[in-house]
Amino acid sequence: MKIEEIQSQLNYLKEIGNLRTLNTLDTNLINLSSNDYLGIAHNLELKDKFYKSFKPNLSSSSSRLITGSYDAVMELEKQAERIYKKPCIMFNSGFDANSSIIETFFNKDSLILTDRLNHASIYDGIINSKAKFIRFKHLDLNHLEDLLNKYSDGYEDILVITETIYSMDGDIINIDRLAKMKKRFNFQLMVDEAHSYGVFGYGIVHNLNLIDCVDFLVIPLGKGGGSVGAMVICDKIYKSYIINKSRKFIFSTSLPPVNHQWNLFILNNMNNFDKERAKLELLKNYTLKLLNENNIETQSNTHIISIVIGDNHKLATISNNLKQKGFLLYGVKEPTVPKGTARFRIGLNPYITRKQIELFIKELKNELDTVF
Ligand SMILES: Cc1ncc(COP(=O)(O)O)c(C=O)c1O
Repeated sequence: MKIEEIQSQLNYLKEIGNLRTLNTLDTNLINLSSNDYLGIAHNLELKDKFYKSFKPNLSSSSSRLITGSYDAVMELEKQAERIYKKPCIMFNSGFDANSSIIETFFNKDSLILTDRLNHASIYDGIINSKAKFIRFKHLDLNHLEDLLNKYSDGYEDILVITETIYSMDGDIINIDRLAKMKKRFNFQLMVDEAHSYGVFGYGIVHNLNLIDCVDFLVIPLGKGGGSVGAMVICDKIYKSYIINKSRKFIFSTSLPPVNHQWNLFILNNMNNFDKERAKLELLKNYTLKLLNENNIETQSNTHIISIVIGDNHKLATISNNLKQKGFLLYGVKEPTVPKGTARFRIGLNPYITRKQIELFIKELKNELDTVF
């Protein structure tokens, strides 16, 4: 691209209030935009306990296929296999895992049916795979069923993709029904648990005993997992194919052992976060109640609470005003969410107090009533 074209596109983004910039995180603000849903990433006591146990190695220095398969990652995969009762393979990120699985296993002869609000990494994989794809209405399994009725005879290779909890809407798929549909129609199922791991322990699919129904269970660890990387739970044959064919797995330096040791530590401690989960649940119910009492609308029913504002400039003004009052709440705009649905997305965690939420909602209500 020519510099003039780049500049003109950036100018346009600025004009419509959609130019993104990077700012240093102000840790003095009450952070309502974090994905650290259980507070694991900021839990000093937990980190002390972790660091005392070994000397961290901060680089793997190569791909897993050269010398990057340290004990830490091998042990993590073994432990995940014991828990999920299916093999696990680690990717460096959820983005890599999603896009790589789709582009490695599916091709121009495949049909991919994807919830229209699925994450960008899923779309990248679909585009790279060159498969035909159709987006079904968000969480609408009747629509998916219609599509399956229409297309399942015409394709040998159909993939259905969903997330469990949706990142930008804070709503949940009916995974039980999806599993039943899989028995009726012949498709493969890929599920992304980025926003449920941790909050729902090992994840919703695991808790509902549906591991066998999911061909590719992707569990990114950068959110409730308080870390980085992604576990993919899949059959042995798929794991072997990934090791041999996935370009993002083969041609990339693997995460440092310290990250895998931390991932293993968190996996092994997953059942010790019940106190945090209970606090999060209470805070979620309290926040939803206060929003309702203040007539602030949301469709969410999880620890992710989305408040649609619509206009980019209004969103930015409210976000700046809230910052002056001590609250960090980023606005989410297109293309992360569909055009015209710019919104606030509150990510709760157990370290936010009821008092802070009360103050926050009072200020938010004031902003919504006065900023036009
Ligand atoms: C649903 C979903 N899947 C995958 C990802 C990507 O995960 P990672 O941040 O580990 O690349 C994200 C992160 O935003 C996400 O929200």
